[in-house]
Amino acid sequence: MAIGEIAVGLGIAFGAFTRLAALGGMVLSLSLWLTVSWGAEPWFTSADLVYLFAFTPLLLHGAGATPSLDAWFARAREQHPGTAEDRTRRVLVGGGLGLLGAVLLGAGALFRGDKRRGTVVQPSQPAPTPTANGPVLLKTSQVPVGGAATASADGETVWVLQLARGQFTAYDARCPHQGCAVQFRSAADGFACPCHQSAFDSAGNVTRGPATSGLTPVKVVSDGENVHLS
Ligand code: FES
Repeated sequence: MAIGEIAVGLGIAFGAFTRLAALGGMVLSLSLWLTVSWGAEPWFTSADLVYLFAFTPLLLHGAGATPSLDAWFARAREQHPGTAEDRTRRVLVGGGLGLLGAVLLGAGALFRGDKRRGTVVQPSQPAPTPTANGPVLLKTSQVPVGGAATASADGETVWVLQLARGQFTAYDARCPHQGCAVQFRSAADGFACPCHQSAFDSAGNVTRGPATSGLTPVKVVSDGENVHLS
């Protein structure tokens, strides 16, 4: 999915194989709409539906006369009508390099996600013994009792909660629906997502869709002075 999105983005941004990129974007948007955002409430907040139809002009008309690689290819065809084979070779080599670049970018994004997921709780793995040797997220005094504060873990925002004095829990701030940053409201009201109004209790469980799963827990431990990743 990541590789497809990057390829579509590059195609649209540079106007290369615009109709094909638009078709790819429509397929991606349609699949996201039918899966991830199908249950969005209200229904018109399902952004994928808008993206799906927003690609239509590009699918029907391509990049047109705008500055684009497609227009450049068309001009080259007109100016050098006898070099079709060279041109085809160049287009194939360029397309192949573009695809390779998209694959590398997508693989890099996936690898980064895997690396980050290494810091969160994996339910299928045995629970590690908490230690206070991990990186410090913040001082315990920065987290109000009965409240929460944000911290950064591997460049991603994490909510650290202290619902009872000295007992810390933490959750990835990214909404499991489409990745917006959730906001902590209170211990009683939990978290809310500003994008499509998903809600979660303060234990991270989903209480209102369109999200279908809870917030991702992040394992933390306190040494009394600091809260660490464990
Ligand atoms: S991103 Fe859609 S509800 Fe959070």
